Order: sequence, then C-alpha cells, then structure tokens
Amino acid sequence: MKVLITGAKGMLGSDLIKILSSDYEVIGIDKETDITEKNKIIKTIMQIKPDLIIHTAAYTDVDGCEVKQDLAFLINGRGTKNVALVSKKLKIPLLYISTDYIFDGKKKSPYIESDTPNPVNIYGKSKLKGEEYIQNLVPNYFIIRTAGLFGKNGKNFVNRILRKAREENVLKVVTDQIQSPTYTIDLAKEIKRVIKTRNCGVYHITNNGECSWYQFAREILHLSQIEDIKLTPITSDELNLPAKRPKYSVLANHHLSETIGDDMASWQDALEQYIRIN
Ligand SMILES: NC(=O)c1ccc[n+]([C@@H]2O[C@H](COP(=O)([O-])OP(=O)(O)OC[C@H]3O[C@@H](n4cnc5c(N)ncnc54)[C@H](OP(=O)(O)O)[C@@H]3O)[C@@H](O)[C@H]2O)c1
Repeated sequence: MKVLITGAKGMLGSDLIKILSSDYEVIGIDKETDITEKNKIIKTIMQIKPDLIIHTAAYTDVDGCEVKQDLAFLINGRGTKNVALVSKKLKIPLLYISTDYIFDGKKKSPYIESDTPNPVNIYGKSKLKGEEYIQNLVPNYFIIRTAGLFGKNGKNFVNRILRKAREENVLKVVTDQIQSPTYTIDLAKEIKRVIKTRNCGVYHITNNGECSWYQFAREILHLSQIEDIKLTPITSDELNLPAKRPKYSVLANHHLSETIGDDMASWQDALEQYIRIN
C-alpha cells in the first residue's frame, strides 16, 4: 500500500513517515507542492497514485491565523478541499488531522467525537472548514482530532519552555487552559493502528489525562531537573494573546476505546519518554 503524507517536513508529518515506513511505501510532500495551488496539487497526487492520503499540512500558527485570516482559510480550508478533491477523484480514503480548537471549551468534561463544534478562534474555524469539506466530498474519511502536540521536528511548548528556562529566570504560564498534551510518536503509532482497521469516521486521539499549560510546564522542568527557575501562574487575560483559546479542550479517546481500544500513554509518561530521548 502506498501512503502519501502532506506536511511531511512538519512535526507530526515527519514522525508519521518514520512510523509508517515499516509497513507501507510512504511518500511525503510539503511546501514545494503547495496545497493551495489546486491544479498542481491534483496533478502531483494523481501522478503518485497513492492508496491513502494523510493530510497534516496546515497553517498551524494559532495567533498568526488571527492576523492572516485569509491565509488561514486558504490553507486550512481551500487547501484541504483541494486534497479532498483528489482523494474523491482517486476513490481512496483520506485521513485528516484536526484539532481540539474546533470546540469552544465551555464543557466541563472531555469532549467526545459527537459533541458540537463551536470554534472560538480563526485557526479553529479554518480547521473546522477543512473537516466540513472532507465530510462533504470524501466517502471514506478519517478525521483525527488531537491536541497540544510535541515532537522532535517542530516548534512546540516543551522545547519553548526548555529554551526559555535557559534564557530567563522567571517563566509565566497560564493556569486557565486545560488540555491533553500529545507526543507525535504516540499519535503516529495510534494512527497506524486506526488505518489498519479501515473503520472510517471521526476519532479523538490524545495522550491520556489532562493538565493546564502551567502544570505541563512544571512537569517539563521537573523531568528535566531544572530547579533554579521561578514558574509563575498567570491567566489568559493577563497573557493577552491575539487568539482566544478554549478554557477546557480535553478530548476523550471515545471512538478509539469503543473500537480497537485506547493504547495511548498518559501525557506524563509520553513527556518523560520524549525528554529522555531528545
Ligand atoms: N501542533 C499542535 O499542537 C496541533 C494540535 C492539534 C492539531 N494539530 C494539527 O496537526 C497537524 C500537524 O501539525 P504540526 O504541528 O505537525 O504542524 P507543522 O509542524 O506546522 O507542519 C505543517 C507542515 O505543513 C506545511 N505547510 C504549510 N502550508 C502549506 C501549504 N500551503 N502547502 C503545503 N504544505 C504546507 C508546513 O510548512 P512550513 O512550516 O514551511 O509552513 C509544515 O511543514 C496540522 O494539521 C495541525 O492543524 C496540531
């Protein structure tokens, strides 16, 4: 089976290539085949003739999306539509990576797949647009919603905290946004299991457990044995970033548990593993 991965140089895309290559012929494409250039992307993928497309390419800068709203909808919406059109033409399944930010964060317990989306920022709105295009165009789709990714090949919260800990004496991190941090290697392995089932649909896949970004930062510093730093709790209002974030966007791996079982480690174990090998 030939698997095509968009966003292949990104944080998740690069780990998917690593994990899937043991079982499949994997071909990665990235910015050189811009998903917003409809004719080019369709022609390229038609020539490759994959049996499955995994679409990870996206404009992932959440605050950037507020400033460049047209670009956010162009890449995450129209770009995803273009990928969906090829998948429809080739009559092959499409697996799309979506986000916890499609939810508004008003729920007090983990979101399941059938909960109603209501994004509070442009990134979430544009990613939801991508979901809608796929659901309307592709008969055999997987939509995998995940959250708070950390992995070797990308800008992520873990690396940012470790860098800041080297440069500054005080770190201010928010306590009022709760989610489930997720290691890209764990996610890639779980995606591999899901693909093999051929059981399409919407899945939530995150590492298990939940925490605020403050609790996450505390664990990062603890596991890295960094003690000479002051970690200060603050609120999202104090931080005042361009994009509003959901207060509570924990995803329950509900569909996964109901079908093949939830193999995801706790976020603490995943983080320990990541820090140990990177
Ligand atoms: N990161 C998270 O915490 C998180 C959480 C939930 C869901 N997700 C979703 O998970 C997926 C992977 O996220 P990630 O953090 O691995 O993303 P990433 O590291 O930003 O990788 C995305 C890749 O897509 C490329 N790309 C951007 N615009 C493109 C275009 N027009 N045509 C082709 N390629 C393009 C990027 O290139 P450049 O880097 O050169 O722009 C990058 O290599 C995304 O769909 C994201 O929405 C991420």
